[in-house]
Amino acid sequence: MTRPLRFALTLLLLSTCPALLADTSAGSLAAVKTLKIDRGLSEEGKACITCHQQTTPGQVADWADSRHAHAGVSCIDCHQVAGDSPMAARHANVQDTPVYVSALVSPAVCGRCHVDAKKQFDASGHFRAYRQIIPKDSLHALQVVHEGRNHPELSGAPGETGCMQCHGIEIKLDANNRPTPETWPNNGMGNIYPDGSTGSCNACHSRHKFSIAEARHPNACASCHLGPDHPNIEIFNNSKHGHIYNTEGDEWTMDSAPDAWEPGDYRGPTCATCHMSGIGELQVTHNISERLYWNLWAKKSSVRGSDDVLSPLLGDGPAGREKMKLVCNNCHTRTHTDNFFKQGDKAVMLYNEAYYEPATAMLNELKEKGLLKDNPWTDEFQITYYYLWHHEGRRARQGAMMGAPDYAHWHGFFELQQDLYKLEQIYAQRLESGAIE
Ligand code: HEC
Ligand code: HEC
Ligand code: HEC
Ligand code: HEC
Ligand code: HEC
Ligand code: HEC
Ligand code: HEC
Ligand code: HEC
Repeated sequence: MTRPLRFALTLLLLSTCPALLADTSAGSLAAVKTLKIDRGLSEEGKACITCHQQTTPGQVADWADSRHAHAGVSCIDCHQVAGDSPMAARHANVQDTPVYVSALVSPAVCGRCHVDAKKQFDASGHFRAYRQIIPKDSLHALQVVHEGRNHPELSGAPGETGCMQCHGIEIKLDANNRPTPETWPNNGMGNIYPDGSTGSCNACHSRHKFSIAEARHPNACASCHLGPDHPNIEIFNNSKHGHIYNTEGDEWTMDSAPDAWEPGDYRGPTCATCHMSGIGELQVTHNISERLYWNLWAKKSSVRGSDDVLSPLLGDGPAGREKMKLVCNNCHTRTHTDNFFKQGDKAVMLYNEAYYEPATAMLNELKEKGLLKDNPWTDEFQITYYYLWHHEGRRARQGAMMGAPDYAHWHGFFELQQDLYKLEQIYAQRLESGAIE
């Protein structure tokens, strides 16, 4: 179908849709979720589409393909801002329009219609992705002093092209109320918007398609959950579940309605299935901390038990474990599931007791005796200690808990014992000589 023709059809569809939307008993999503739609498509709303069809056809094509287009939610619904908003920008090329727009679309905008998703997100570990970094001086030093070499103009580069793209930032505006290049564009999970709301809904549902199917694929998590310190996509690929998904996942039904995406549509779980989706008795949640028991990224893993969203122990561990087991029990028996978690928990406890504790005891003693360098990034002991918990230790724990033998073992415990022997050697040498080598 040529573009102008499809465009004409879309508009036709839109103009007939608003009436349908008023009926909240129609679809299963509308029946359970709080959705508020109160606008059709005005002249101004249509103008955005007509003109942007010429200026940014890629965006219009993605939008035209989306549930939003079918439901009559268009550019103006997400991008219009009040004239007195801190983000209000005059639309340079459209002097006559009374509408103020912003390129920024915060989670508060999505939350106007998707009340539950926003509420759950705000209670999740994803919410704090940037906020938790703000008070940590050592992490700012890592980005600016060590990685940025304290360069007078360029020291921001590592943070802007790295941390910020996954964790987010506080988005700042220039004199024309447009986002600054130091803070945007990025899809970081914990962005703080000028309106005060937090998050990045398009981190998993990329714009302008905002597809539920996309977010159910592991790829939607893989852009951040990868690499040496949290290799979750690699772990998934190494697991039997990844084996099945990688073999036949492209044939599965991925666009079923929320809470109706069940085994049968797919044969094995993806990241979303275990951490977010409605399955069996469980309902969809945007709180990815809700089904967790341990804290596996921390230096030492403890059982979760806090409702403070900034706490590293956010969640209710025992309740989280029960929910996760309910996921498994759709496809496995109780014995299979219970035994699996006994294997995984044993690995986490071994890491805590046989690696974290002795390594930390040595670190504390060296610190007390003045045998650590001030700059941790030039100190062989401190660098190895960092790798022990932040890289190897996480890989062993996360590999074990998600069924990935290569990460539990070769990238995990094998390297852990090497780290520990190295720490013991440096420790003994420093105690014996009373000096840093
Ligand atoms: C007559 C053409 C035209 C109309 C009508 C129009 N736009 Fe635009 N829009 C543009 C152009 C051109 C740009 C700048 C593109 C660029 O910088 O590459 C732009 C930029 C934008 C931006 C980025 C904002 C920024 O500060 O750079 C947003 C968001 C946007 N338009 C949304 C809308 C919305 C919403 C409507 C309807 C209320 C709309 N546009 C109507 C042509 C138009
Ligand atoms: C469901 C909400 C929604 C709708 C509908 C929507 N957008 Fe967006 N748009 C977003 C989000 C989210 C972003 C990313 C903003 C951010 O980073 O804060 C964005 C970004 C943009 C940008 C700036 C980013 C870039 O790549 O240049 C432009 C321009 C834009 N949209 C235009 C449009 C146009 C034109 C339409 C209608 C065809 C439209 N949008 C419909 C949510 C929406
Ligand atoms: C004006 C109300 C409104 C706003 C604002 C809005 N949405 Fe929606 N959204 C809807 C409606 C209506 C549907 C369609 C529900 C259906 O399919 O029955 C929908 C559907 C969705 C879906 C499911 C798509 C699918 O594949 O089934 C996602 C994901 C989504 N929206 C995300 C967002 C995000 C992210 C934002 C902000 C950038 C946003 N929405 C802003 C009303 C809105
Ligand atoms: C834009 C990057 C990004 C994407 C995409 C992303 N995450 Fe995350 N995720 C993060 C960051 C950053 C954190 C760490 C949050 C913090 O600072 O505590 C995190 C943390 C988590 C946690 C641990 C939460 C806790 O309480 O400790 C889980 C589980 C998780 N993500 C699952 C997922 C899943 C499942 C997906 C895909 C459906 C996904 N993430 C997509 C960036 C991302
Ligand atoms: C590729 C994406 C990515 C980049 C780049 C990245 N992180 Fe992370 N970070 C994550 C993810 C994903 C997690 C969650 C790990 C988990 O749950 O196992 C995380 C976890 C963390 C945590 C622990 C969570 C907490 O609440 O304390 C901190 C601290 C952190 N990152 C800081 C940083 C800093 C600082 C940088 C840059 C120097 C950075 N990260 C770069 C993705 C990233
Ligand atoms: C970590 C990835 C991730 C982020 C971030 C995310 N979503 Fe989702 N979202 C998903 C997944 C996965 C599903 C599908 C769950 C399922 O299998 O039914 C989903 C489903 C949805 C749905 C349809 C189901 C429902 O509950 O109505 C809407 C609407 C939605 N998301 C909106 C949002 C909004 C709004 C935000 C920002 C506050 C957001 N999402 C942020 C992954 C994400
Ligand atoms: C078969 C179900 C399953 C699948 C599939 C799965 N996970 Fe997990 N995930 C778990 C379990 C179980 C845990 C450990 C929970 C616990 O007991 O603490 C976990 C832990 C995590 C953690 C560690 C949180 C912390 O405390 O540090 C992150 C991050 C994570 N998963 C992300 C992902 C991502 C991203 C994917 C896809 C690439 C994925 N998971 C696929 C079940 C799964
Ligand atoms: C949608 C169905 C489904 C869900 C949900 C699911 N699995 Fe699986 N799982 C499978 C299939 C299918 C296999 C492959 C069985 C085989 O090897 O023949 C498998 C394999 C496994 C294996 C490899 C050992 C074996 O028996 O083959 C483990 C371990 C495992 N799953 C644990 C879990 C855990 C733990 C959960 C929940 C956190 C879970 N699974 C959730 C379908 C599922």
